[in-house]
Amino acid sequence: MDVARQIEVLIRARYSVIYIVSWEEERVEQTLRAVGEKLDKNVFTWTVTQGMLHADGRGSGASTGSAVQGLEFALAQQDPAIFIMRDFDTTLNDPIVERKLRDVAKAFRSSYKTLVILSPVLTIPPHLEKEITVIDYPLPDEAALGELLDALIAQLRDHPTIHVDLTDETREGILKAALGLTATEAEDAFAKAVILNGKLDRDDIGLIVSEKQQVIRKSGILEYYEAEEQIATVGGLGALKEWLQKRGKAFSEKARAFGLPEPRGVLLIGVQGCGKSLSAKAVSGLWHLPLLRLDLGSVFSGIVGSSEMNMRRAMRLAESVSPCILWLDELEKGFSGTRSSDFSDAGVAARVFGSFITWLQEKTQPVFVIATANNISALPPELMRKGRFDEIFFIDLPRQDEREEIFRIHIARRERDPERYNLRALAEEAEGFSGSEIEQVVISALYDAFDRAGELSQEDLMANIGNTVPLSQTRAEEIEALRDWARDRARPASP
Ligand SMILES: Nc1ncnc2c1ncn2[C@@H]1O[C@H](COP(=O)(O)OP(=O)(O)OP(=O)(O)O)[C@@H](O)[C@H]1O
Ligand SMILES: [Mg+2]
Repeated sequence: MDVARQIEVLIRARYSVIYIVSWEEERVEQTLRAVGEKLDKNVFTWTVTQGMLHADGRGSGASTGSAVQGLEFALAQQDPAIFIMRDFDTTLNDPIVERKLRDVAKAFRSSYKTLVILSPVLTIPPHLEKEITVIDYPLPDEAALGELLDALIAQLRDHPTIHVDLTDETREGILKAALGLTATEAEDAFAKAVILNGKLDRDDIGLIVSEKQQVIRKSGILEYYEAEEQIATVGGLGALKEWLQKRGKAFSEKARAFGLPEPRGVLLIGVQGCGKSLSAKAVSGLWHLPLLRLDLGSVFSGIVGSSEMNMRRAMRLAESVSPCILWLDELEKGFSGTRSSDFSDAGVAARVFGSFITWLQEKTQPVFVIATANNISALPPELMRKGRFDEIFFIDLPRQDEREEIFRIHIARRERDPERYNLRALAEEAEGFSGSEIEQVVISALYDAFDRAGELSQEDLMANIGNTVPLSQTRAEEIEALRDWARDRARPASP
């Protein structure tokens, strides 16, 4: 159901207060005016600066300038009407406004009037939660963006110095790149692309993608990674890699035609430094999809809006760039709810977490979720229930052959020929080492060689292995507990 229809249904069903979350006041108002016209209702808009105004410009002026006056005006109207309240969320922490709004909610239920709160942020005082229905107004889809682009092209048709040359393919590329932008942002991005070099063509897709990265960065909760890490940089973890390789093909049209469901997500649990984060990054390289890292710390920090709102926004943004990969690193830090001093209280964590779980199961856009964690005791058990993720993998310390491969990768990464070293001996000596500890061994050995003004030798590597006390020794108990937990709940990432 499209959003206009959804709003219409709510209004006809006499929902009294609807909260629409959107940055795009103009687009939302257009929709509401159209709904009002269809249902033969007056449409009013209230703002802090102008009070209540009728859509035809007729105003009630200064006497409705306060939120309470605006609501009283709405209560007093006899005819069927929609009241759009802009800026209203900023007044909601006033107890009088809150009470008035509850009166409105009650009175409107038996009337043909609807109050619509319109704001880019969602802030509902707990008392009002039951009275308010929330709608996330979606960003423009490809068709809507296409109309904006066509309008721009029509304007430029007779321009002497501007040249627009769009094949169907380029047009599609530009529109896909602009998904996730608001209408205004998309218009600005298109205009910028034209003005920069006097034309609009294939080369502008990159520019629009970078505009979108800006938007994502500004959100403060998602970080955009280009697909750069290759799967070959991950040593071992054969079962995980094979699983991922197979799932990668499932995003194609062909797979859909074959009847394959789109993969939803995977949870990686494992010992520190054994390649969870690395694997997440490598999937994006393997599948050639952008990777969005969700910073759970800032979701809960309170610096950029409420936790619930942040989570919703992150999910919407991720959907708007889909197909993509959404990476939740160190899940336990956000969702544990036990660290009340660091983040927020357990109640909020549970609510945010609940909406995440629902989304994980019901999302319709191809957003693949990779979640990583190394401390399961802090995770809510619902998360591990079957069916949330497509699979839960357990990443253990690397075995002998995997350690050899990890040495090979890190020696090669430092521009040395791995075949000049006895990898088997190194791996044997490094029993119990994690991937990250192996990397550290290679790095410190390089320092030693450089200090000596010699070349990196087997002895440098062996000596550094000898000097390292791996976590598997200092935290043996923790690791054993994790293994016990994983034994019949997760699939081993190494075959
Ligand atoms: N299997 C591996 N193959 C190659 N390199 C590895 C592997 N595991 C770890 N490393 C190296 O160690 C670094 C750290 O690993 P990574 O960040 O993936 O660990 P992690 O499992 O996410 O640990 P944490 O639980 O501490 O977040 C990687 O960037 C990589 O260089
Ligand atoms: Mg990590």
